[in-house]
Amino acid sequence: RGPMKVALLGCGSVGAGVLDYLRTHPDLFELNPVLVRNPAKHAANKQASFTSDMAESLAGDPDLVVELMGGADMPARVMEDALAKGARVVTANKAAVAKHYDTLVGAARPDHLAYSAAVGGGVTVLERIATLSDLVQIEGVMNGTANFMLDKLSHGEDFEAVLAEAQRLGFAEADPSADVEGHDAADKLSILIREAFGVARLPGDIPKQSLREVTGEMAQEAAKKGLVYKQIGRCVLAEGEVRAAITVEAVPLSHPLAGARNEENRFLLTEASGTVHGVYGKGAGRWPTAAAVFADIMDTRRAWCGDERGSAALPGSHPAAHAEPALARA
Ligand code: HSE
Repeated sequence: RGPMKVALLGCGSVGAGVLDYLRTHPDLFELNPVLVRNPAKHAANKQASFTSDMAESLAGDPDLVVELMGGADMPARVMEDALAKGARVVTANKAAVAKHYDTLVGAARPDHLAYSAAVGGGVTVLERIATLSDLVQIEGVMNGTANFMLDKLSHGEDFEAVLAEAQRLGFAEADPSADVEGHDAADKLSILIREAFGVARLPGDIPKQSLREVTGEMAQEAAKKGLVYKQIGRCVLAEGEVRAAITVEAVPLSHPLAGARNEENRFLLTEASGTVHGVYGKGAGRWPTAAAVFADIMDTRRAWCGDERGSAALPGSHPAAHAEPALARA
């Protein structure tokens, strides 16, 4: 099958990385103008043309919409429309997936929606959860910015300066209060609760502690006692009820979550039997996240190619005429 027609919506830290990946495969992907807020800011980027007009980016019914805009309601509507038109959708947008899970994930046809980068960036935590059937607890460090900041605070650095550093490194959200106040972690925890326990819990209904509750002095005092502050997302399933929260708490250095460094995410998945699965890796930043999005894009392309092979065998089509190209593709 020829190139897949792609609409890339958003070209921030992750979007720019995904654009790089897409441009290395011009034989596989043909790009519509990339949707950005301010095209003039991207004038030096010769990899694509840029537009601030959504209709222009979505022109001609693309085969694949890659949504990396951020926000929740508007991007969810755009993705729902694209799916309804038969397009495939890949996103890393945890806020949209968490808040609109039923109308997105619940309504999408198999292989039409992929969002493995929405939780854990490059960490394959959603993939691992899909293989486990009897989970009773998940806890994790699931926001790289908070993790990075708490570490720096314990070394006496200033809150606003380390937040600016996390933004410069491309870990923080466009609105970094999502990282600081726990909204980003709650979006991710909401998706984990859904996929691990099959329970709907909106991010807004998950209590959150702010990073601002931990001062530099507290972080340094904790370090002297062999403790380290972590922003932890935790959900527990007991007697059919789910308890969930985002906390900022001091854990001993021996705790498996204590060693998470910088943008690393760590997830501990506990089964009813007591077996704990640890899934660790790079959870934030352009390249780990863009690589995870691009892996979803390649999987989606494979399914899209498979569809054509399938349709070649439908009654009324002429399988013999398609035999050779199908073999060549295989
Ligand atoms: N702002 C997020 C973080 C990006 O710091 O973890 C990855 O979801």
